[in-house]
Amino acid sequence: MREFMNGRIGITQGDITACNVDAIVNAANRSLLGGGGVDGAIHRVAGPELLEECRTLGGAETGEAKITRGYQLMARHVIHTVGPVWHGGDRDEERLLADCYRNSLDVAVEHGLRSVAFPSISTGAYGFPINRAAPIALRTVKEVLEGDAGIEKVFFVCFSENDQRVYLDRAGELLGD
Ligand code: APR
Repeated sequence: MREFMNGRIGITQGDITACNVDAIVNAANRSLLGGGGVDGAIHRVAGPELLEECRTLGGAETGEAKITRGYQLMARHVIHTVGPVWHGGDRDEERLLADCYRNSLDVAVEHGLRSVAFPSISTGAYGFPINRAAPIALRTVKEVLEGDAGIEKVFFVCFSENDQRVYLDRAGELLGD
């Protein structure tokens, strides 16, 4: 675990379903009814009650974030957000990805949550290049944390060593300390 912003941001490699935080963020699709990747892992660990609650949400648009309970997960809540599918970068993908991070943290603040863990949204099945996604994620979270003392800790939980290295390299540039 490497920390930045006086410990308010942590970057680590691991399985987000094992994170003991107030909320883990799910890289979902617009149906919010599960899928593969981290979405599949989260539903597998949370159990069927998560899908039952997701059915009541009525889906979500790209960039939106909606909260549920965490059920069998260590995390108390899951914040489901829908990342943009990468089409080359000229369809507002970068703004929509930033919206995912900002709206997820806004939902966390609305619910008085203090610790949130993010996967690397859109960089798997949705094809967003990790080298472009990581700085967007880091910059957006930094901006939200600078404007709000409510959130004490945000973790970036990278599934692969390579992703973690990209996040760490860019964090050094963007977050200082
Ligand atoms: N913990 C942390 N990160 C994970 C885990 C896990 N258990 N499993 C996968 N990841 C990582 C991937 O390695 C990738 O870096 O999550 C990141 C996002 O990849 P995807 O899960 O493929 O999500 P995304 O690219 O946003 O595509 C979303 O895939 O699973 C479907 O229903 C989902 O349709 C939606 C699409």
